[in-house]
Order: sequence, then C-alpha cells, then structure tokens
Amino acid sequence: MSAALPRRILLGVTGGIAAYKSALLVRALVKAGAEVQVVMTPAAHDFVTPLTLSTLSGRPVLTDLFVRDGSGRWNDHVHLARWADALLVAPASANTLAKMAHGQCDNLLLACFLSATCPVFVAPAMDLEMWRDPATGHNLAALKERGVRTIGPAHGELASGLVGEGRMTEPDELVHALQEALIGASPWAGRTVLVTAGPTQEPIDPVRYIGNRSSGRMGFAIAEEAARRGARVHLVTGPVQLTAAAAGIARTDVGTAAEMAEACKAIAPQADVVVMSAAVADFRPAAPAARKVKKGEPLDTLQLEPTEDILAWIGAHRRPGQIIVGFALETNDGVAHARGKLQRKGLDLVVMNTLEDAGAGFGHPTNRVTFIAPDTDPHPLPLMSKSDVARALLDRLEALL
Ligand code: CTP
Repeated sequence: MSAALPRRILLGVTGGIAAYKSALLVRALVKAGAEVQVVMTPAAHDFVTPLTLSTLSGRPVLTDLFVRDGSGRWNDHVHLARWADALLVAPASANTLAKMAHGQCDNLLLACFLSATCPVFVAPAMDLEMWRDPATGHNLAALKERGVRTIGPAHGELASGLVGEGRMTEPDELVHALQEALIGASPWAGRTVLVTAGPTQEPIDPVRYIGNRSSGRMGFAIAEEAARRGARVHLVTGPVQLTAAAAGIARTDVGTAAEMAEACKAIAPQADVVVMSAAVADFRPAAPAARKVKKGEPLDTLQLEPTEDILAWIGAHRRPGQIIVGFALETNDGVAHARGKLQRKGLDLVVMNTLEDAGAGFGHPTNRVTFIAPDTDPHPLPLMSKSDVARALLDRLEALL
C-alpha cells in the first residue's frame, strides 16, 4: 500500500553522497501528499543542486540564515520550524549529527532544528567506520535522549565500496516510517470527515443571486487540519476564491443550497464526523427567472421560499457514533440561540461566533468562537487565526471520537 502523508515536512539535506537520493525522497514525499520545504546545508550543494530539489518540491530551497543581497532580509527559522509538522534530516551526515547533538547553530538547518517543537527524525548516512565511531554513537544517543527519532541506517553496499551499516534508508521506506510515526497513531487515521464551507448563491435570474459574505476560510482551515491529522476529508464548498493547502481532500464545488444538500446527502452516510461550517442561505427566490430581468421590467418584490436545512437532515439521519457539528453566527443572545440550535438539529457541538467581535467572522483571517456542547458550560476561545480555531475544534472532537 502506498503511503499517504498529508503533512508539512521540513526536509534537511546535508552533505553526503546519499544526498543524490534526496531528489527521489522529495518526489516520494510530494507523491504521498506532503508539502515539502527543503533546507540544505552549504555542503549539500556539492552533492545535489538546489534547482533539482526546488523544482521537485515546488518551493525555493533555503540554505542561509541571511539573504546576502544587501537587503538585510533573513530566513525566519522560527517560523519555518513552527510551520512544519515534522523535521526530517535525510541524509543526516556525521558532521550535522554532531552539531545537532552539541546545539551548534551555524546554518539555517541547525537553527531550524534548535527552534523545532515538532517531531524530528534523522536518517543517518555515512561510511561504515564513521558510523561505528563511538563519537557518532554518543551524538545519536544524546539526540535520542532529547526525543529525536532515528530511521536507519540500512545495511548494504556503501559508496566507499565497503559493505555494512551506513546506507541511508530508501526514500519510500522513509516516507512509510514518517507515515507510521505521524499518522499511524492518529485517532483520525481512516476516519471520514465531511466539511462544508463558503456561501451559497441562490439565483434571482441567470446573472444575479442572493449570497452572503462568507469567504470559506474557516471551513477550508478545518478541512486542511483534518487531512493533516490523517482523516479522509470531503470538502463541499460554495463559490470561494480558495485552494485547499493540504493534500488528501476530495473537493466538491456547488452553487446553491440545493446542490450543497445533494452533495452532503451523498457523503454524510459514510462520514464519522460532519462539520457544517458553510453559510447556507436560509431562503431562495421561489421562481428564479429563466432569462435576465431587464432594467425596465417590474421587479418590485422577490418571493422567497425556505431552503432545506441540510444540518437538520444530517442530524435526523445520524448514523450511530457519528459526530455532528454546526456553526452559528449570532448577533444577540448568542449562547441561548446556539443552545436552541444544538437541540433542534440534534448536534454534538455548535461553534458560535458573533459579528460583534472585532476581527471575527466573515472575511477575517482570525475568529473568536465559543464552543457550545450539551450539558457543559460554554467554552469561549480568545481571538485566534482560523487555522488555530480549526486545531482547537479538532482537539475537542478528538476527545469524542
Ligand atoms: N445550515 C444548513 N442548511 C441550511 C441553513 C443552515 O445546514 N439551509 C447549517 C449551517 O451550515 C450552520 C447551521 O445550520 O452549521 C446554522 O445555521 P443557521 O442558519 O444559523 O441556523 P438556523 O437555526 O436556521 O438559524 P436561526 O434559527 O438563527 O434563524
């Protein structure tokens, strides 16, 4: 079975002959669904070109802490390290392992390592005697003690012609090992998650519609986070200007509430978790015109009819053990209204936000939400990025899985 690894991987490439395999490794990681940012040590440039790795990863390769173009810019190692779900150093040379063990920090990769809070993996690659040298053993032991995980090395023919331990683990095996370590234990692995996002557009005529200001960002952040945790994600989205930033998301684009209902009804019966974050129109024009209504034509009133409540349908057809989450945008008496929604639609959780909070709701990259669940007090969260809200939501749901 091929590995699926929808994760952000910071790949450190150091100076050793096995760096020639980095091209295949980047390819294998990308194929498995990972976003890959390559950081090379200066010595790695002697073995493989940055052009090869940047082309395969789709991102510029980084090497230096400082951008030496007179601009005073620098590569932000703290941000890079925080971006990553995992740091993999492959190949990890004896020299880089020694520097990592001793906290040295004279290149970008080492600075990223020192800043990393994510899991760190090293795939040592060196010749037999270097691998056998007690100094290397001590350095690896020190790193392991600090939580760094070692993959390999493998036994086999080495660049020197000697045969023994020291070969870098093959790229496909490295991807498998990462998948096992990062996703294998995730409670989301193998779960199916349905997320809806964005607005719906209800036509008045072929040109005009009734819509709303939802950007879809919150739903996309939830879909991305669920995919990163190893879930199979179906994202049903209204018209938005967004591209999902994580692999492993099956996306269905819809226009109207009726189309969203149809797509959701097809997926919901298989879903373990449903997160209905779309801003579905509650009403639609009862008789949209078949052709464009001209300026001169009378259009004094617009007859509206209710759309189907998708979430209520999902709640009514809930399969055993299914977790259902609704969103509520309230302008007044938020908690009371959200609790009503929780009961009426048979939900496990309502994520409530109000338009009264600055920086929250439609169009903002940030949100301030309150989780409302049956039989517990409301849990308000501070203003945070929508991806942090997504993390908090999935942490909360993880406890229910
Ligand atoms: N929703 C839905 N289908 C609709 C309308 C809304 O699935 N036709 C979902 C939204 O995606 C959201 C939740 O229902 O998760 C809350 O929507 P809202 O329109 O506020 O719910 P209502 O109970 O209809 O709102 P209110 O009673 O406040 O008018």
